[in-house]
Amino acid sequence: MIEPKAQSPLRARTTIHFLTLLILGLGFQGSGAETVWLDSLDLSNLRQGWGRPQVNRAIRETPLTIAGKVFARGVGTHATSTLWVQLDGGTERFTANVGVDDAAAGPGTVIFRVLADGRRVFDSGVMKTGTPPKAVNLDLRGRKLLLLQVLDAGDGIAFDHANWADARFEVTGVKPKTVPVPTEEAVILTPRPGPAPRINGPKVYGCRPGNPFLYRIPTQGERPITFSAKGLPKSLNLDAETGIIAGQAPLRGEYEVTLRAKNRHGTATRTLRIIAGDTLALTPPMGWNHWYAHYDRITDAMMREAADIMISSGMADVGYQYVNVDDCWMMAPKHNDPLRVGRLRDAQGVLLPNKYFPDMKLLADYIHSKGLKAGIYISPGPLTCAGFAGSWQHEALDAKTFADWGYDFLKYDWCSYSRVADGREPGADQVPNWAQGGRRLEVYTHPYKLMGDLLKQQPRDIVYNLCQYGMANVWEWGEAVGAHCWRTAGDLGFELDRIFEVALKNAEHRAWSRPGAWNDPDYIQIGWIGNARGGGLPQPCPLTPNEQYSYLSLWALMAAPIFYSGDMTKLDDFTLNVLCNPEVIEVNQDPLGQCGAVSVLNDETFILVKDLEDGSKAAGLFNRGEFPAEAALPWPVAGLTGPAKVRDLWRQQDLGVSSGPYRATLPRHGVVLLRLTPVRAAK
Ligand code: GAL
Repeated sequence: MIEPKAQSPLRARTTIHFLTLLILGLGFQGSGAETVWLDSLDLSNLRQGWGRPQVNRAIRETPLTIAGKVFARGVGTHATSTLWVQLDGGTERFTANVGVDDAAAGPGTVIFRVLADGRRVFDSGVMKTGTPPKAVNLDLRGRKLLLLQVLDAGDGIAFDHANWADARFEVTGVKPKTVPVPTEEAVILTPRPGPAPRINGPKVYGCRPGNPFLYRIPTQGERPITFSAKGLPKSLNLDAETGIIAGQAPLRGEYEVTLRAKNRHGTATRTLRIIAGDTLALTPPMGWNHWYAHYDRITDAMMREAADIMISSGMADVGYQYVNVDDCWMMAPKHNDPLRVGRLRDAQGVLLPNKYFPDMKLLADYIHSKGLKAGIYISPGPLTCAGFAGSWQHEALDAKTFADWGYDFLKYDWCSYSRVADGREPGADQVPNWAQGGRRLEVYTHPYKLMGDLLKQQPRDIVYNLCQYGMANVWEWGEAVGAHCWRTAGDLGFELDRIFEVALKNAEHRAWSRPGAWNDPDYIQIGWIGNARGGGLPQPCPLTPNEQYSYLSLWALMAAPIFYSGDMTKLDDFTLNVLCNPEVIEVNQDPLGQCGAVSVLNDETFILVKDLEDGSKAAGLFNRGEFPAEAALPWPVAGLTGPAKVRDLWRQQDLGVSSGPYRATLPRHGVVLLRLTPVRAAK
């Protein structure tokens, strides 16, 4: 440290004392300091993007090796990773050699960072395989909390095998110990809905002329509510008590309907534009999918219960609509539960559900009876990812079967299609991975176009969701093969620590987001979710409250499909407050269908801004960092040229009129989500 002024005698004495300590301290071993190895600490608190922390070896269980140098001790991890270590002033020094493990042998880049009591004290810069190890040597006297971080350096986490080699603490007092990610109080930001009616849901709704039509008007407020509508096409009926509109989609054209909801506390109205034409999903689909909660344990009874709870919890009143079964409803050739094993198809080739699903049509009927919609899942390959029946060579019959049963949504998941993609028989050796190249684009588009064309021929509106993890830039051709949304990446279930990175990647494809065509970064996993790796029973999700607000804010600003995928029977007030803020959902469901644009402010903070149909803007200020951060939204970044009304959407609070910039302190991994409505300056 530089001391700019002359020192007082007391100060000089202190400095000498300090220097003596330092000199003594440098000879740690001699001065009685004890070495505590990082690899000897409890690594269950280490959070990382892939695999499990390794002691004295790299992530792939090979010797820790950086640029040819082998280290006997250390911790092998994988970006992105964080480890919090409580020092409580007892540690003198931390030393290590960091780098990417040689076994990664790929294009992965990482950055190692160390923060002490919130201040950055080490930054490796970008490192990759072959970069010589960098020495970390930190004086930590008096420090309380240390954070060891490995970031993905902005290119995703593939091949990011990161080693904290030779990592050790020299300790004279209290021993360092790892601690979990800091906890936060789960503050409910969204006020409870009042007793007067409030009509939510999309302002525009697409259907195909002549097909069955079903729409439950999402409405909050004390029941009973009496519904009415002006301008409803004659082929449709509105049930005044339930608010369910049903019938046959009208002739091609646009119909402006005024919906009205009345109870003893008041009346609400809202315009809904029904567009009978070729495009479905004019706003991002919303609902629930069973996968991350129940995996291969799903049953008909659980699906019905989810539909019941979608109504009783109020989720349907803000726009959640689809109740979707994922993998494992069919039969499998082999599975550990015999009730899911059997003949895949009947003599006519029709798919046979397993013993937990007595009647797929009755299940869809039940979901429809609530005014909700039913979704189903299968793969274009011979088998699904979990090894259940796929549609390969039965595509036409399956499309018809799903329509006959009454399903409104199909998720079509690539899974084993690789085995047949190049014309090989199922069971032949795996064809080379797509990333290794060698396949024509048509190999990727073919199965999806085949099913897309078949779905269009059904006398039913079936929203079509592609799941192939973003291969071959699916966003560029998804709409052309008839899809309404497509997963842009692998399973988020494995990457919950990376919601910001996954969102930033997804937002890169914003040019392809528009009504009827949505980039899908996967489901919302908050509340109680299953353990993605072990297929274990639901448990509280690992995300902090602020991370959960950020999650929904990102999905809302990106116009991503919002499918909750946690355990519906375990919804608590906090989770519902995150899922069910109608002002946040309105940003997601805005008819313009725009995915927000990203402005990166610095390593930690970024802004996502989205234009809304009424001329206002939605803006999120996000903090990816591990400590609170200041951020400012300058008006030009939001596309504003004059004063605007500022509203905090999570708190549903007006913050007055401002000409910018808007400044906020963002909590760790947190967000401020705003709606900015331009006002004419007073003359
Ligand atoms: C994965 C898919 C998941 C889930 C799972 C079912 O490929 O990405 O969302 O559907 O298969 O086995």
